[in-house]
Amino acid sequence: MKIFLFLFATLFTPLFSAEDIAKGKALYEKYCLSCHGADGKGKTAIGKAMPTMVDLTKSTMTDQQFFDITKNGKPPMPAYNQLKDEEIWELVHYTRTFTPKNPE
Ligand code: HEC
Repeated sequence: MKIFLFLFATLFTPLFSAEDIAKGKALYEKYCLSCHGADGKGKTAIGKAMPTMVDLTKSTMTDQQFFDITKNGKPPMPAYNQLKDEEIWELVHYTRTFTPKNPE
């Protein structure tokens, strides 16, 4: 029985888990929501005040580009390089839930 459970867990473990997405959501709410909004469209008061604000639901960037921008920032968006890479990936997975498709 154990071997079957093991195989099952190995075959069906996704690249990132629901837990990562939940952690990403908490980080997003803490750091990103004020500008990008709960739906990622950037229609918050601060978001609207930024002429270069982007709609994350329409982004055509890759996961790696999301990662780089979150880590290094893109003025006026601040850099989040104080976060661990692991946390930045959690943010990437969460923000990906806004985008209709992942171009990678
Ligand atoms: C102070 C407001 C602000 C905050 C806070 C902020 N952003 Fe941004 N973000 C922006 C703006 C403005 C842009 C557009 C920059 C540009 O393209 O010139 C942007 C761009 C992006 C992009 C690029 C998307 C694309 O297709 O161009 C990603 C990904 C992103 N932000 C993720 C995040 C994440 C994740 C957080 C939280 C860790 C965050 N942002 C926090 C303002 C903000």
